[in-house]
Amino acid sequence: SHRITLGPLVAAIDQGTSSTRFLVFNSKTAELLSHHQVEIKQSFPKEGWVEEDPKEILQSVYECMERTCEKLTLLNIDISNIKAIGVTNQRETTLVWDKETGEPLYNAIVWLDLRTQSTVERLINKTPGRNKNHLKHKTGLPISTYFSAVKLRWLMDNVEEVRDAVVSHRAMFGTVDSWLIWCLTGGKSGGVHCTDVTNASRTMLFNIHTLDWDPELCKYFGIPMEILPRVRSSSEIYGLMKSGALSGIPISGCLGDQSAALVGQMCFQDGQAKNTYGTGCFLLLNTGAKPVISDHGLLTTVAYKLGRDKPACYALEGSVAIAGAVVRWLQDNLGIIGSSEELEKLAASVGTSYGCYFVPAFSGLYAPYWEPSARGIICGLTQFTNKSHLAFAALEAVCFQTREILDSMNQDSGIPLTQLQVDGGMTSNRLLMQLQADILCIPVVKPSMPETTALGAAMAAGAAEGVSVWSLSPEDLSEVTSEKFEPQINPEESELRYARWKKAVQRSMNWET
Ligand code: G3P
Repeated sequence: SHRITLGPLVAAIDQGTSSTRFLVFNSKTAELLSHHQVEIKQSFPKEGWVEEDPKEILQSVYECMERTCEKLTLLNIDISNIKAIGVTNQRETTLVWDKETGEPLYNAIVWLDLRTQSTVERLINKTPGRNKNHLKHKTGLPISTYFSAVKLRWLMDNVEEVRDAVVSHRAMFGTVDSWLIWCLTGGKSGGVHCTDVTNASRTMLFNIHTLDWDPELCKYFGIPMEILPRVRSSSEIYGLMKSGALSGIPISGCLGDQSAALVGQMCFQDGQAKNTYGTGCFLLLNTGAKPVISDHGLLTTVAYKLGRDKPACYALEGSVAIAGAVVRWLQDNLGIIGSSEELEKLAASVGTSYGCYFVPAFSGLYAPYWEPSARGIICGLTQFTNKSHLAFAALEAVCFQTREILDSMNQDSGIPLTQLQVDGGMTSNRLLMQLQADILCIPVVKPSMPETTALGAAMAAGAAEGVSVWSLSPEDLSEVTSEKFEPQINPEESELRYARWKKAVQRSMNWET
């Protein structure tokens, strides 16, 4: 059996919308040594509502850590070599718990959840000129159901336990990173209540210029500041693991999953971008030390701040709510596929949607439209259309949505991207990757190590502990193998299909009015 030259090891907890993972990397080579993954249940108690169980999330983290440690031991790798743990997570998802009992006071309200649609519409109607970008100068975000502030407001208005805990100063608010770090560092007996700048920048309570909670925003949403976690950089020691096999190891990295992927893809230069295909799909462009405000429906977000004394880097972000989620929908709701691999086969068997367009606006439309009232539609059907065409249209929808974001980004930055770096679960679908290149008319480049989100968090954690994974020299970097998909159809055909997609999108909007 082959013997690996091991440097210190760095690890990451990757808590996504659909699953939790724990991964361990060799810092010398950035090689993934072992990992374990557990699916997360989502519940849909009412139409448009999406919840997850905070305790199940926490349990899944412990389970992944234990299993991964067992696997490492079987590989003869000493787990005491793990020097640092990073946390990366689904962003915006909102939790409130009781700091005395340690108990969550409600389920986690997932970022995709639409229950705050009417609140959002009311807030927008009250702004001068009905302007959804009213808070953008401070937050970089439009007023939307997507971000934490409205979800937290909903919890305070509708859940008695939350209201009581707020009144009696027992409530703690957090996104998933805060919940996990608090629990892992001791919970009700001394857990650390913190978040990092990237996660904070998704709450709508955070000023992305001052890099702190904003009293005016908190007042606007009626949120007491004492329930907020302390905001820290993305790379510093927050606390130590309190129990389990990894007890005593510092948790020293924290980044929202999209920021972590930007770091893991080594997009440290102004102008570099990556697109991650997870439950949703998120294209981030590094804009360096200055926040760029978009004129084309993109968000401005904190990309990372890799150390207390390091400057913050910003990004323009195009967020698509539904990407991988459409695959799960075809599987669970329509039952036309049994697994995501089947989707690729089914779609490839026809190689065209035959004029069928599928706009999966299940949670309204995010960037660049920010239209909570949009709903999903399937159009262009004929007697001829079958499930294979629908499967193909679903894959195309992911690509068209990315194209819309890329167009906005090119317009905002003035410098068109000449290729797109991608990662995430869906990138194992080769048909999707080829379609994406065809629809963007630029090459799509995929790294051979797909776990860039976890790598980014592990890198941030390592950096705080003096273990650098980015000692990778430019020559080493060019050796990081990747696969390139070149556009294969002519641009006219691509434009024609894209124009039809745009028509379909128009029809999905203003559904309820
Ligand atoms: O903003 C939501 C995002 O962070 C979720 O990512 O990978 O779970 O789709 P993912």
